[in-house]
Order: sequence, then C-alpha cells, then structure tokens
Amino acid sequence: MTTATPHTFPTDFLWGGATAANQIEGAYNEGGKGLSIQDVMPHGITTPRADGPTDDNLKQVAIDFYHRYAEDIALFAEMGFKTFRFSIAWSRIFPLGDETEPNEEGLAFYDRVIDECEKHGIAPLVTISHYETPLHLADTYDGWVNRDLIGFYERYARVLFARYGARVKYWLTFNEINSVLHAPLLSGGINTPKDQLTKTDLYQAVHNELVASALATKAARELAPTAQVGCMILAMPAYPLSPDPDDVFAALTTERTNLAFGDIHVRGEYPGYYLRSLRDQGVELVITDEERALLKEYTVDFVSFSYYVSVAETADVSQRVVGEGNIFPGVRNPTLKASEWGWQIDPVGLRTVLNQFWDRWQKPLFIVENGLGAKDELITVNGRKTVIDDYRIAYLNDHLVQVGEALADGVDVMGFTPWGCIDLVSASTAQMSKRYGFIYVDRNDDGTGTLDRFKKKSFGWYAEVIESNGASLSR
Ligand code: BG6
Repeated sequence: MTTATPHTFPTDFLWGGATAANQIEGAYNEGGKGLSIQDVMPHGITTPRADGPTDDNLKQVAIDFYHRYAEDIALFAEMGFKTFRFSIAWSRIFPLGDETEPNEEGLAFYDRVIDECEKHGIAPLVTISHYETPLHLADTYDGWVNRDLIGFYERYARVLFARYGARVKYWLTFNEINSVLHAPLLSGGINTPKDQLTKTDLYQAVHNELVASALATKAARELAPTAQVGCMILAMPAYPLSPDPDDVFAALTTERTNLAFGDIHVRGEYPGYYLRSLRDQGVELVITDEERALLKEYTVDFVSFSYYVSVAETADVSQRVVGEGNIFPGVRNPTLKASEWGWQIDPVGLRTVLNQFWDRWQKPLFIVENGLGAKDELITVNGRKTVIDDYRIAYLNDHLVQVGEALADGVDVMGFTPWGCIDLVSASTAQMSKRYGFIYVDRNDDGTGTLDRFKKKSFGWYAEVIESNGASLSR
C-alpha cells in the first residue's frame, strides 16, 4: 500500500463498482448456459423456491448486461473506474456443474468482458461463485452439503485460473461466505428447506465451502502466480444494546458467527470459540487431515467484505426487537435511521469494521460492496433524463469519509467497489425498484421498460471523487 496521509486515499486505491452475474446478465438460457438456483428464485429469499423457471423472474433478462456489456463498461470507464467487480456464472461454464468439460461459449463471453475492461484500463475483480450454484447441483446433490461439490468447484476454479489467470489479478472465492448459515439455498445451493436442515449438514456445507476456497487458492498459486485471492465476508458489526456485560458478550458471540470465516480463511484453522459452538449445538463434522492441511497452507492474500448495516445485540430476550438486515436480520439499534427497506445506516460502523478486521488479521482489506438501495424517480433536466439522488450521494460520501478515517488510522484498504454501480435486480427481494446504481436502468418491477441507461446525479459525483482521489468528499 502507498502510505496515505490523514484523510487522503493511496494513489493506487482501487475505485470501482460491483455486480453479480445473475443480477445483471439476463440471457439465462443463452450461450449454452444451464439453469442456476436463481432461475427458481423469482422473489429472492422472500418466498420458497419454484420448481423451474417462471416468467415473473426479472433475472431472466436482468439488465441485459450479456448483450450490453460493452456500453456499460464504457460508462464505468467514463466514471474513471480502476476496477470492476463482476462474477462468473458457474452454470455458463459448467451448465450442470458436474461435467468434466467446460462450455466454450460461456468462457468466450467472459473473454469479451475482460477485453472491454482491458480496453479501458479497468482491472477485473472476479467473484468465482456469487449466489448462483448450478441448479442441477442443488437438485441432485443438495448443494454444498455434499462433499462432491468440492471437486466440482475446484474443477471450475481451475478452468477459470487457466483461462483468465494471466489477465485477472483479483479473485474472490465465495460471495458473503458466512451467509450460508442464514440463506442455505441462495448461498449454498442447499435444496433442503432451512427449517428441515440439520445443524450438522449446515456446518458440513460451511466446511466443504472453506475447503473448496482453499483448493481454489491452491489452484491460483499453480496456474496464476500473479493472482491475489481473497475471501469475501458479509460484515455486520453487532453493538451491545446496553453496557450490561451480558449484552457485551452476546454482541461478541453474534459477531463471531461472522468473524469465524475470516479467522479460518486468514489463520487456516478453526478457532476455539467456533469449535465450542459446534459442540454446544451437537454438530460433529467430517474433517480429514488432508483438509486441515489445505486450510492451513492455502490462506488468503486479502480480506474483502460487504458492508451495509450494523446491528445491536442483547442477552435479554425481552429486549430483542429485530429489524431488517443484509440477508439476515439483527436487533434494531435505537440510535440509527434506516433505508426504505429498513436497513439501518451507520457510516462509522464501516470505520469500526475496517479497524477491527485490520487489528485482527493484518491483511489488506477490500470493501467490495456498500451502498444505498433506494427508490429513484427518473426526471428530465435540461432535456436529459436523470435522477437527482442526493440521498445516495450523502450515503456514499459519509461512508467514504469513514474509509478516509480508517486510512488515517493506519488500516490498509485496497479499494472500494460500491454495490450495483449500475441498477440491477436485488438479491433479497428480486426487485428492480431497489436501486443502488450511478446509472439508471429503465426497467420496472413488472418487467416493463426499455432497458435504456441514464446517468444519475451520483454518476458525476462519483467521477469527481475518483478524479480527485477522494479529495472532493464533503467532510
Ligand atoms: C449482498 C449481495 O448481500 O448485498 C448482493 O452480495 C446483494 O448480491 C447486495 O444484491 C444488496 O442486497 P439486496 O438484497 O438489496 O440486493
């Protein structure tokens, strides 16, 4: 990291934006692509899965990035992006997931996406698996509960490193790996409904993913020596609801359900508190000596995370007023305001997370998701359609100011890729109306719309932030 003076960003800071294949690409059955779990989740995690694809699933078309990627990447370049986070749809590469040979048409698509990035000097940041396990693996194997997925994923990762490893430096193994504990189908391709899933199966799935992540890191070392591999954690700090020592420990226990994933990825072994929690829940995992050695040897180069909300925690059940959260809820913090979707807004929490992670792991940190999901109104100003999204600018400004504080605290922050840099389909609710982008996409929750792109006010604001390397932020 280039040294940052107080409140300035390093000169090599990776400014950019983040997306995921299933939320932008569309073309769900084109180019030899197989079905993924997203094709049977028309309403995100709000309803049980469907049997097969349904017309009410906005992700079938999403924002049609599959056909419009060149136009979109050019817009990112216009904002000055140094990096673009996208995911590869596993079922474009291995349509069923358990084949031995990849689908060339799928691979060629991502060649073209990377070509466009290179044309504009944008470094790709690739998520190998972002909430889109091939459906066949969910239906036939029950997803990550089954150890066979380790081999299927390793084969997939090896194909990616062999094909793109010389061109892609930054890789993330699993999106928000800790969310499998809360959304087993979305995050782990686990078909068994959550209320019927045993704790042992759930934690075995976690273990299988962690081993697969280590195997991907091993594959990168062999096939793409210049690549850097990171884990990706859903960060959600939990504050004690009161100074009562029992509340303080309850908050620590809640945080550890997320921190455990970083501990394992960075230190290469299960922490004692995690093993105790498994014992207390009566979970007995199958872990081989070879797997222990893999976890220990193939730890990550950096830690990436999403940050949207903080929560509170209390040991007093009568005080547990649960609010909304990213994928999973937490106890509401009475001091914070919330978004239209009930996600509580806490910029200082981002500084807290950055300091906590740095103190704990001493690994470079990458904020690969942050942002405000909000309803936007498309209006005409001086003959141009736009959105005056001052609320989004304020949210991102306030969070970036806290990133500046963390940099001044001495934290090594690699970059910032706000979520949904172009409007996309929401993961939790599968809506278009929950918009995060600097670029408005004309598509509505009922599927109508031209799919045309329009620059919001935040587009120019973010371009200036990047151009000035953070100096234009309002402090
Ligand atoms: C994260 C996911 O949970 O948050 C993204 O990695 C998701 O896929 C983002 O879109 C925002 O959540 P939502 O539910 O508002 O789309």
